[in-house]
Amino acid sequence: MSTETSTVSASKVLSSSWKIDGLTIKNRFVLSPMAVLQPTKDGSPSEQTIAFLTTRAKGGAGLLIVGGTVATESGYAEAPFQPLMRFDNDRFIPGLKKMVDAVHAYGVPLFAQIFPAFGAMGVPGEGRTTRAASPKPVRMAAPRLPHGMYIPGGRTNPTPEEITREELREVQNETVAAVLRAKAAGFDGIEIGAHMRYLYSSFFSPRTNWRSDEYGGSAENRARFLADTIRAIRAEVGPDYPVGVRMSVNDHLPDGQGPEGFAEVMTYVVKEGVGYIALTDANYESMDDNLPSSSGQMLAHSEPQIFRKYLPNVPLLLSNTYEPQQAAQAIEDGYADGIMLARQLLADPEFPNKVLQGQQEKINWCDHDNSCLRRLILNVPVRCHLNPAMGREAALAGAEESLATKLKRPVDAFVIAAAGSPSLMGLADKLANAKMAKDAKK
Ligand SMILES: Cc1cc2nc3c(=O)[nH]c(=O)nc-3n(C[C@H](O)[C@H](O)[C@H](O)COP(=O)(O)O)c2cc1C
Repeated sequence: MSTETSTVSASKVLSSSWKIDGLTIKNRFVLSPMAVLQPTKDGSPSEQTIAFLTTRAKGGAGLLIVGGTVATESGYAEAPFQPLMRFDNDRFIPGLKKMVDAVHAYGVPLFAQIFPAFGAMGVPGEGRTTRAASPKPVRMAAPRLPHGMYIPGGRTNPTPEEITREELREVQNETVAAVLRAKAAGFDGIEIGAHMRYLYSSFFSPRTNWRSDEYGGSAENRARFLADTIRAIRAEVGPDYPVGVRMSVNDHLPDGQGPEGFAEVMTYVVKEGVGYIALTDANYESMDDNLPSSSGQMLAHSEPQIFRKYLPNVPLLLSNTYEPQQAAQAIEDGYADGIMLARQLLADPEFPNKVLQGQQEKINWCDHDNSCLRRLILNVPVRCHLNPAMGREAALAGAEESLATKLKRPVDAFVIAAAGSPSLMGLADKLANAKMAKDAKK
């Protein structure tokens, strides 16, 4: 498409179906994985987890990817935040299945982010270090933090140890076992979390991989750990089951690797059967580029364009491209197949429906103040200051009428008590609507 895609054709492009391996997806909107799901303390999906996801399924997303997960016992032990949704033991399968079934009731497929290990982002424990491709610590410099996030003086994480070959095989075996648990629970596909500065990603860039064995040096060697893992997964799940990879595609650091280098690494991995690549900009050391405050940053950096050139046949999921015309244009131009939405779907779960039904004036736009992220780094349940229902979907479940009953308080009193608090006023608004609906029925 040479000229800018119009509103009408944007909704046409974004409502078109597409495929990942053997799975057809009804539209282009994908819930990006986020650790906002409030699983139970022992690592299973909670009623709130299910309500968050079904709210986004109802809101029109074509595919949901579950984030805030961990696939291995050692990954769980080193996790920088809790609780996480766990895939490291068969005992989690029934709980996961209940969640998958609930989402399937809305006709929307659900993928699991299979997250092997935190690498240099892990937290060391008694007698336990963190492990990565090479002993390169993560330095989060204060000027490179996203808007609204403050760490005075920045932060340098503990230096990881070089992971051994035996440990790599252990992580790989546990990762394959976790994929099989996800499949047994009914997930429609999985993605391997190989992004940011987590374990797998530390192999891709010469900046973080100084190894002299068969896992370091050439692009083929730096791809080896992930390529071996994908081959092992494919041998178990067959050719049609969707297996994606989430990866950072640009270090955005003076001594880092650019998109050509990351794309070259991936040319060796896709030979093993990668169903899609979820392109993630930057990493923990360049978080301002990872969580930008406007749409289209990746397209401006040419990362999707370069990945498409190196990998013409692999579906690409694009981050940071929530503006509908821009998203449709990227798909039309062949630089993206799916559009991942994270913060925008916290602020407005109905965003896909509103775009596809031509109701853009009704969208509750994310303002990128990043209150969600501030809560995440403080390890408290994530909320959105623009959407008071976010993170409370289970409490609000069912008819708004039943909410009024549950609170067992007169609506008017609640409105008075809520005055002055934007979050509580949002709830009060829902209660008032519920009361009006109830009164209208009398
Ligand atoms: C609160 C929060 C939690 C997140 N948790 C995860 C996660 O568990 N796994 C992951 O791959 N990305 C996670 N992300 C990153 C998002 O998936 C996404 O890449 C990022 O927010 C940029 O996309 P956006 O501009 O659409 O928000 C998280 C982001 C936020 C804001």
